[in-house]
Amino acid sequence: MDCFQITGGKRLRGTVPINGSKNAALPLMAAAILTEGETVLKGVPDLADTRHLAFLLEKLGLAVTREENGDFRLKVEDEMNCHAEYDLVRKMRASVCVMGPLLTKRGRAQVSLPGGCNIGDRPVGLHLQGLSGLGADVDLIGGDIHLKRKKLKGCEIFLGGPFGSTVLGTANVMMAACLADGTTVIESAACEPEVVDLANYLNACGARVSGQGTPRITIEGVDELHGCEYTVVPDRIEAGTFMIATAITNGDVKLTNCRLDHLLALVDRLRAIGVNIERTADGGVQVSTSRRLEPVTITTQPYPGFPTDLQAQTMALLCLADGNSLITEKIFPDRFQHVAELNRMGARLRKEGPTVIVEGVKQLIGAPVMASDLRASAALVLAGLIAKGRTTVSRVYHIDRGYERIEQRLATLGADIKRIPE
Ligand code: EPZ
Repeated sequence: MDCFQITGGKRLRGTVPINGSKNAALPLMAAAILTEGETVLKGVPDLADTRHLAFLLEKLGLAVTREENGDFRLKVEDEMNCHAEYDLVRKMRASVCVMGPLLTKRGRAQVSLPGGCNIGDRPVGLHLQGLSGLGADVDLIGGDIHLKRKKLKGCEIFLGGPFGSTVLGTANVMMAACLADGTTVIESAACEPEVVDLANYLNACGARVSGQGTPRITIEGVDELHGCEYTVVPDRIEAGTFMIATAITNGDVKLTNCRLDHLLALVDRLRAIGVNIERTADGGVQVSTSRRLEPVTITTQPYPGFPTDLQAQTMALLCLADGNSLITEKIFPDRFQHVAELNRMGARLRKEGPTVIVEGVKQLIGAPVMASDLRASAALVLAGLIAKGRTTVSRVYHIDRGYERIEQRLATLGADIKRIPE
C-alpha cells in the first residue's frame, strides 16, 4: 500500500485541467448495457473505480477497451451473465447502477446488496421501490437482489425518501424506464449534473428523456437504443477540491475544463470565507485568497445545495478560519471520519450529532494520519499542504478511487508531496 509524504507551506500556483467526472462516468459506462452497437465515452478519468466498473461490465458480457487517447469503447457482446457478484459490488457500491440497465434490457438482474461503507449505511430501498413500480419482481436471496420482468411498464414514481432524493436511484430508474412500455415520471428525482449528463447520453442514444436537472423527469419508453460518442461532464468535486487546495495554501491557481455553474453552492461559501473566484477571459476559473479566512456555516444538501462530497475538504480549510464555523451533514450523517484525523493535526473540531463545531486555529501541525474514505482522505491531503512540517497520509488507495494522480498534479502546482510505498 502507498502513502503520501507531504511537507506543508508551499503556496499552489499555476494551471490545472479538471478531469471528467467520476460520478458521471460510472452510470454512463453502465448505460452502455442498454445499447445495440458501440459507445465511445471521451474524458473518462483513469481511476480505480472506473477500472473496477470496466471489469464488472466485462463479466456482464461487454467488450470494454480503453484507447491510448483515453477514450473508452464499450459494446455488448453477450447477454448471458446478469450477476453482479458480492466480491465486486462490495468493493465499489456504485456497481449497483448496473441494476436498472440489466433488468430493462435483459429482463433479469442479480446484484449483490452493497452493504455499508466508511461514510455510513448505503441502502438501495428507493432503487428497488422504483424498479418494482415499473413492474419488476424483486427478491432478496442470500444477500443478492434478484429482479425479473420481461417488459417493464411506465408509471409515476416518487424517489424522495428521507434525504430529498437519491442520485444513483434516479439513474437506475431513469435507465430502466428508457426501454419500458409507455411513460414514466420520476417525482423528486435527483438534480445533480451527473444525472443530467446521463440523461443527455441516453437521449443521444435515442432515448426520450426530459426534465433532467429538475425534480421531475419524464421518460417515454422506446424499443431500442443505439450507441453513440459522448464526452463526460467535468468533475465538479475534483474542481472544488483544487479550489480548496488553492485557498488553504493561500495560492493562486487557474482551473481549466471547470463548469463553475455546477459549483455555485461551494463558490458562495468560499467567497463568504474570503476566497477570490473569477472567470478568466479564456473560460478558465482563477482562484486566490487575499485576506484572513472568515468562519461560515455550512449544511450539506442535495444539488444545487452544498455538496456532501466537498464537506470534508471545506472543513480542512475552515480549521484555519478566524473564528468558529458550523458544518452540518444532512446527506450522510456519519460522514466525519476526517474529524479525528484533523484533530491529530492540531485542529479543534467537536462533533455534536450531525454537526461539527470548527474552532479556528492559527496553525495545523504535520502528523501521520490515515485515509478512510475518498473525500476524507482528500481533506487530510489538503490539511497536509498547509500544516507545519511533515504529514504522512497512509492508505492512499482510497484517494486513487476518485482522483487521478492527485499527488503529481498537486506537485505540478508547487506542492511538496510524494507517493512512497508504505
Ligand atoms: C452518489 O451516491 C455519489 N456517488 C456520492 O459520491 C454522493 O455522495 C451521493 O450521490 C450524494 O450526492 C456516485 O454518484 C457514484 P444517494 P448515491 O443515493 O447515489 C439515502 C463520492 O465521494 N438513500 O444520493 O449512492 C442514502 O443513505 C461519492 O464520490 C436511501 O435512504 O447517494 C443517503 O443518505 C460518495 N435509500 C442519501 O439517500 C436509497 O435507496 C443520498 O444517497 C438510496 C439512498
